[in-house]
Amino acid sequence: MPGDKSISHRALLLGAVSRGPAVVRGFLPSADTLATLEAVRALGVDVEVRDSSELVVHGVGWEGLSEPEDVIDVRNAGTLLRLLPGLVAGRPFLTVLTGDASIRKRPMARVLEPLSAMGACAWGRGGGSLAPIGIKGGRLRGLTHRLPVASAQVKSCLLLAGLQADGVTEVIEPAATRDHTERMILAAGGHLERRELDDGGVSVSVSRLDRPSLEMIEIPGDISSAAFLLVAALLVPNSEVTVEGVGLNPTRTGLVEVLRRMGAEVTVEQDHPGSVEPCGRIVARTSELRAVDVEPSEVPRLIDELPIWALAAAHAQGISRLRGARELRMKESDRLAAVAELLRALGVDVRDVTDGWDIRGVPSGWAGGVVRTHGDHRLAMVGAVAGLASREGVVVDDVECTAVSFPGFAATIDLLRAFGGTA
Ligand code: S3P
Repeated sequence: MPGDKSISHRALLLGAVSRGPAVVRGFLPSADTLATLEAVRALGVDVEVRDSSELVVHGVGWEGLSEPEDVIDVRNAGTLLRLLPGLVAGRPFLTVLTGDASIRKRPMARVLEPLSAMGACAWGRGGGSLAPIGIKGGRLRGLTHRLPVASAQVKSCLLLAGLQADGVTEVIEPAATRDHTERMILAAGGHLERRELDDGGVSVSVSRLDRPSLEMIEIPGDISSAAFLLVAALLVPNSEVTVEGVGLNPTRTGLVEVLRRMGAEVTVEQDHPGSVEPCGRIVARTSELRAVDVEPSEVPRLIDELPIWALAAAHAQGISRLRGARELRMKESDRLAAVAELLRALGVDVRDVTDGWDIRGVPSGWAGGVVRTHGDHRLAMVGAVAGLASREGVVVDDVECTAVSFPGFAATIDLLRAFGGTA
């Protein structure tokens, strides 16, 4: 599997402020993460590319970062747009960020407001709510911030700022989200405390870390990319797919649990329990699926897998329901609307409500259709898997956008088909 996108972004950003070189293995060379590579170079950090998945980030420490000469273009990378402001919030220079049309619609007040409360000067279009945004760093003080919606991107931004702040910075999330930033801060020598709260929320506190030190970062395969191949295995007759070396961080494995509740034959074996990020192997086999409900509290643990889960639900016996997933409207596309449109193009009956879907599955499968991706990489991969599982094939209007997270996706699918020959 290609390397994990979330961890690849974080390896570059934390590697940049590390004291001395950080070797990064298993890096994902995708459009999104290459935007982060360019961004850290624009901040004066030398990144040596040994091969496409191995880098050396010549970290310069906090003080070594320098003012970018130009606007940083994050392209389609929401994680870069949200995390970089935290990294530069304590630096005494101006950083301006913009991105593509989808990025310029992403809500930004959720990071700019708390960063301002910590002492940075932060501006954005639309009264501080949209990119382009500007951050002029300053002396930061810790704060306690309760996130209105569960978001690992916002949490991570504030933790990165917290590493430069006086006092303690506490972020309270309404539900546990991916904890890659926390794990990497600990690996860099930081002090961090995590508490589970009675209401299901999580409190994460971080204190100042003047000298982060990361010598080696090993990135596992991306479970969010693996998800497409695993669901393909479930839906295409006579299939079995094994994914090796994939990240098994429990904050990311929600899809596996939901698929199992649907009756899917999916097995997981962890092989590196001791490393910073657990990883291992997942095997999926063709299965008859039954409908399931995905609860709001589960959503953050499969937020990026919900589009491909929807396709599995569209093949299951009965009506599956998702609730509490309004955030899906704020992603690379409005994924609640775009997935509903995609499934309808296959002839599936879907109702999209404000925060989820009701999907009536068609266990006998679908003939085919023409689907629109809205330039969203995950929609394109859902369309391709729908095509593999269809009787006549599916036309996907844009397959190029898969390069955002899964370079080589089409070639991987071709390889699987060549082995199986059933699709
Ligand atoms: C990500 C967090 C999630 C996810 C995104 C990557 C991250 O976003 O959807 O693809 O790397 O932190 P939110 O945390 O904003 O929901």
